[in-house]
Amino acid sequence: MDKKVNELILKLNETHSLTEAEYETLIIGRGYFAGDMLRKLAVKTRKEIYSDTVFIRGLIEISNFCKNDCLYCGIRRSNSACKRYRLSDDDILACVDEGYSLGFRTFVLQGGEDAHFTDDRLCGIINAIKSGHPDCAVTLSLGERTKESYRRLFEAGADRYLLRHETADKVHYEKLHPAEMSFEHRMQCLEWLREIGYQVGCGFMVGSPHQTASSLAKDLKFIESFSPDMCGIGPFIPHSATPFAGCDAGTVELTCYLLSVIRLIKPNILLPATTALGTVHHNGREKGIESGANVIMPNLSPLSVRKKYELYDNKICTGEESAQCVQCIKARMERIGYTVVTDRGDIKK
Ligand code: 5AD
Ligand code: FES
Repeated sequence: MDKKVNELILKLNETHSLTEAEYETLIIGRGYFAGDMLRKLAVKTRKEIYSDTVFIRGLIEISNFCKNDCLYCGIRRSNSACKRYRLSDDDILACVDEGYSLGFRTFVLQGGEDAHFTDDRLCGIINAIKSGHPDCAVTLSLGERTKESYRRLFEAGADRYLLRHETADKVHYEKLHPAEMSFEHRMQCLEWLREIGYQVGCGFMVGSPHQTASSLAKDLKFIESFSPDMCGIGPFIPHSATPFAGCDAGTVELTCYLLSVIRLIKPNILLPATTALGTVHHNGREKGIESGANVIMPNLSPLSVRKKYELYDNKICTGEESAQCVQCIKARMERIGYTVVTDRGDIKK
């Protein structure tokens, strides 16, 4: 098995493509030595393109109101214990200004699907950010919207959109979401975003309930064919007030292995070492960077709301001021030989 897996890793390194069955073998057959070889190739690849730099994105969690009821998520609408909040336009702009002075040149507005954030309101916020800081990129992560809405937000100046596909396996998708949500619509949204001209990010959780090596192989094949500019992956972590409360979390090991695979599939991709990875292991984000990731998204949300944006239990960085998180990340990266840069951090083509 080891020999077969080693061959597949070398093939992936050269051709950036495997069949779905080969991806499945790569996952099922992995062992310590294969993992180590894969990680070294992934780091070599990322260093050839991005050297030792790490891009930072200022994450602003604008609302935890959500009309959806995804089974895994702590801010799902049926979690009545969740204390709901939304930031005012002024709160958001104040976070951006603070982030700018801390060296951020990309801001990610993330939130649940909250009807309060109409196109008009969001266009106003995007306009204000772009006119105050023309050297910055704005990324949106606000779930499924209409094509017309995506277009208006793009025309207002949004540069990028993150919409995790969650799983590329329709049967698996239906086990993670209520019947009113559709796999086809999620994929349709990603196509629209691409068509409109956004830099697009997809992504999925590692170790989510009912996930198999076959569903992960579909995720990898999807990343290969869709060729996103960004891909957010992190371990699933149970939230105590969801139907998946008793499920196991995903592992650091498999998450890092998949980060390396994705780096080899698409060498120039923007790949974050996520907060979830930092939550399942105290050095998870470092391990992610050392597996081929090149982005970190420190939290810029006001301290008063940090704990409320609780997608999963024990989320890190809920008690730290933004400036503290930035310092912490810089020190963590320096300790492993990487450098955080002040840069929009666009994908290198
Ligand atoms: N564990 C890990 N990640 C989660 N997300 C939502 N709930 C969880 C959880 N319990 C991820 C989803 C979503 C992103 C914003 O956070 O992939 O797209
Ligand atoms: Fe937030 Fe370390 S990154 S405290």
